[in-house]
Amino acid sequence: MSTKSKKNSSKDQFSSFGFIMAAIGSSVGIGNMWKFPYLAGANGGGAFLFTFIICLILVGIPILLAELALGRAGRGDAMSSFQTLAVRHRKFWGFFGLLSVIAAFLIITFYMVVTGWTFQYAIGSFTGNLYRQTDNAAYFAQFAGGPLPLVYTVITVLITGAVLIKGVSKGIELFNKILIPILAILLVVLMIDAMSLSGGMKGVEFFLKPDFSLFTIESTLIALGQAFFSLSLGMGAMITYGSYVDKSQSLGKATLAVSLGNIVYALIAGLIIFPITFAFGLEPAAGPGLIFVALPTAFADMPFGHVIGGTFFVLLAGAALTSCVSVLEVIVAFVIKHLNWTRRKSVIVLSIITAVVAIPVSLSVGGPIADWKLFGKGVFDLFDFTASNILLPVVGLAVTIFIGYISKKGAEEAKLNPSLHRIWISLLRYVVPVFVILIFLYSTGLI
Ligand code: PHE
Repeated sequence: MSTKSKKNSSKDQFSSFGFIMAAIGSSVGIGNMWKFPYLAGANGGGAFLFTFIICLILVGIPILLAELALGRAGRGDAMSSFQTLAVRHRKFWGFFGLLSVIAAFLIITFYMVVTGWTFQYAIGSFTGNLYRQTDNAAYFAQFAGGPLPLVYTVITVLITGAVLIKGVSKGIELFNKILIPILAILLVVLMIDAMSLSGGMKGVEFFLKPDFSLFTIESTLIALGQAFFSLSLGMGAMITYGSYVDKSQSLGKATLAVSLGNIVYALIAGLIIFPITFAFGLEPAAGPGLIFVALPTAFADMPFGHVIGGTFFVLLAGAALTSCVSVLEVIVAFVIKHLNWTRRKSVIVLSIITAVVAIPVSLSVGGPIADWKLFGKGVFDLFDFTASNILLPVVGLAVTIFIGYISKKGAEEAKLNPSLHRIWISLLRYVVPVFVILIFLYSTGLI
């Protein structure tokens, strides 16, 4: 026992500020900066923002706190945290931890490919090459399907691996402590610049003024799915990070800080993208191409567009990298624990495997293997769909039930005051499961 507690106290873990930065780093990513603005654009602007915030409060925040509490009480990777806390049916609960590790693996492969695209766009902006294209859509398609993204994916893997090999406090924490504040400053600078464009205020109005005629069940479910992905829920990231948090830290406050940070970053991203979109007469609901196709058109005509565009893509790359770090750490922690490997060996082997699996993922985006289909989906879409639409809600539901009904020890780890605790547990028991089942049915096309 004494050696065990000694080992625990010397465990490599986060400082309290470092943990908040790392959790914000995981949550703020391509989802906030890329997906959120275009979803808002397509679903009624401010009405979508409003729905998103409600989903975050009713569903996202309770699960986030449940994952952090589960990790800190279980003190292990996603799978062993479940196993440690489950008094009965250990294998059954451990299985959901394993599913989250599989989700992390699927997500990391396509997430790194997209991260790689942002590098190319940052470089292309600064050199001006991106703005010499006549057809941005054709340029994007040709680039994404070609061999260059493979090089960028390897660079992404190398950066992520270099951070993880240094461990929790000297690697993950330090990386996020430096990057997250820098990203915040860049975001605000870009926002001021975008909002001062003439005609930009129309974009702000579009983004923030609720149009409730577009408030549909479908847009609500989309907002719910987005709240889930954007808080990095259902894939073990927050369980794993939670296991590195000191017992004295308030998980409730951390949850609030992360959720608030998440909204603020998504909000500011919209306040950059929509003023630019409107000032240059582009289509706000341009879909996923908004960032890689429409925005470059605007940057090409903007004063100092090369620098502004370059900074924007650097920001996107930074936000994506801090998420990559958290996703790969889920698998690293799992391998360290269950295969008993050293951190160094785990990071190196997993980096190689990730880079290799990312090859077909990347080449399936308009590349030579674009017509390899399974269930009607190419490799990239299949990985994204399986992880985001199936595994994340399933694991999210398991965490909800586990903390809401099964593990008292896990629930108590949140250390909320009694009335908040009651509200939280009631949400986990009666509200969250209904919503998560709805997301699952909707995103798998069953309703
Ligand atoms: N939350 C990240 C984003 O919004 C993505 C992510 C998902 C990161 C799952 C980690 C785990 O981009």
